[in-house]
Amino acid sequence: MIAMDLEVIRDMSDNGKTMKLSRLCGALGAEVRDVDLARLDEAASAAIRDAFHEHLVLVFPDQDLAAGAQVAFTELFGPVEPHPLRTRRTVDGHPAVLIIENRKGRPGARNDYWHSDISHAERPPAVSVLHALKVTDGRGDTMFCNMYRAFDALSDGLRETLRGRRALHSGMATYTRSLEHNDARTIDPGEVKPPRAHPVVRTHPVTGRPALFVNPHFTIGFEDMTEDESRPLLDTLHAVATRPENVYRHRWRAGDVVMWDNRCTMHYAVMDYTEDMVRLLHRTTAAGDAPR
Ligand code: SIN
Repeated sequence: MIAMDLEVIRDMSDNGKTMKLSRLCGALGAEVRDVDLARLDEAASAAIRDAFHEHLVLVFPDQDLAAGAQVAFTELFGPVEPHPLRTRRTVDGHPAVLIIENRKGRPGARNDYWHSDISHAERPPAVSVLHALKVTDGRGDTMFCNMYRAFDALSDGLRETLRGRRALHSGMATYTRSLEHNDARTIDPGEVKPPRAHPVVRTHPVTGRPALFVNPHFTIGFEDMTEDESRPLLDTLHAVATRPENVYRHRWRAGDVVMWDNRCTMHYAVMDYTEDMVRLLHRTTAAGDAPR
């Protein structure tokens, strides 16, 4: 990982340390060091919120967050909610803390597709937080891309074409995946709701910036077009969004806490590990609003 532009974002008065922030690449992401997420004061929380809205993905190395402390930290960004589909195991006593695990006899569910979490929900999750407890070095990286920049990269003509247009997001892909993995409860097909329409260009509720809001996993087409007609344009948008220069790839270390903003990023969990390579993370989610 290359850290650039080391800049101090504030002095933490509570423990006398200085929290430091460094950009991770040109597209998005910053690493924040010398901070203990389990004991943030008001000013530190505000500084982290500001940094998050500027950088979209924040990485906090060397954290030792118990499940309750992870929930408390996530709550700084919105009400913590259980995974909307309730398909995964959770930490005992903490129904909002999902266990993402890969080990012998328990292969983890694949997330190796670009997506924004549960974008087919009426109010898709705003913020997701992952805390790595065990990792196999150099395997199971997670990639993130910047959907503000993806929108900005389009021609004036295409940006105008997309404004006001809505796309349909379907939970069918999640249903299909739940049939394939033994760490996920099988979803009743009756629970799969009809596709939901969301704006293709979403205005971020905090920053006010426009971001592209489609993804290859859940978005099945434009509201007023067939899936076949929609596919070429969706493919173009996804290709622009996932250009290498618009992506940050996170290499996990045990103790990392990584958070991302589902309203202006997509992510992809790289599936380059086998069942015998341990990967254990705790995941929490802050609720979002209906995309506008
Ligand atoms: C996810 O796609 O939500 C999980 C990401 C990961 O396991 O790295």
